[in-house]
Amino acid sequence: MRSGPSPASKEKLKSWLRYYEDLGIQTFYRDRAPRQASPQQASPQQASTDKSVMTTPEKGTADTAVAKPAQPSQIRAATPKVNLVARGPSLFEAADRVEGDSLERICGELAGCTRCKLHRRRTNIVFGVGNPHADLVFVGEGPGHDEDLQGIPFVGRAGQLLNQMISAMGVSRDAVYIANVVKCRPPENRTPEKDEIATCMPFLLRQLSNINPKVIVCLGSVAAQALLNTNKSISHFRGQWLDFHGSKLMATYHPAYLLRNPHAKPEVWADLKKVMAFLGLTPPKGKRA
Ligand code: URA
Repeated sequence: MRSGPSPASKEKLKSWLRYYEDLGIQTFYRDRAPRQASPQQASPQQASTDKSVMTTPEKGTADTAVAKPAQPSQIRAATPKVNLVARGPSLFEAADRVEGDSLERICGELAGCTRCKLHRRRTNIVFGVGNPHADLVFVGEGPGHDEDLQGIPFVGRAGQLLNQMISAMGVSRDAVYIANVVKCRPPENRTPEKDEIATCMPFLLRQLSNINPKVIVCLGSVAAQALLNTNKSISHFRGQWLDFHGSKLMATYHPAYLLRNPHAKPEVWADLKKVMAFLGLTPPKGKRA
């Protein structure tokens, strides 16, 4: 007859779980069969193969247009089989530490920002727009020409496409929140540089921490890599559910990429359908899902 773990082992396990939760890791995997011990298997990343999944409880429903929350079984089925979870307390620490934080306060702290070189050529800081209690947040890369002029994210051509994607999901642009990794336009729309991302990231993390959405959709590799603190190509994890400090994270292609590569639209739509299923969203009448 198999006896359970000893009280000492249970205590040890509890303390490991607390340690990983402090690092922001909230999904753990239990091996079905004992494996040969090896130095590699001691790593939490390796522990995500051969799994029965235990997820942390889902958050309460916020006040956006969300009809039916997904059932726990759906959530488990949607949990990805990749080794990526958002970790790196260094990034999220900034968000956790600010007492009485709010979007207004973060926006105020960014006013007149000169923390990185992007400030030199910007017209407006593009903070973010939308529902401060949104269940669904979209994160892009950084403002382009139109966004820089208007101070609002995703208002140019890529923004028009994003609007179409959002409405096809059966939700209005006002019900979601939209932000970028960097808040100032990179010259000639170049990719934001590492130091610029690192400087702006604490503000995005605080925005996300304040909104506390159920789902974050990363639009493109810059947003996904920045939030997941990885250099892996987006193709490794696009379309898979990942965990991000208590929210679910879905990385998909950027609308600007879709403008150049319309053949990739079905992949993005498949990703968005997963988000819709998770949030209980249905497409508006007359639109096929
Ligand atoms: N692309 C982005 O990543 N963000 C915007 O706000 C606009 C275009």
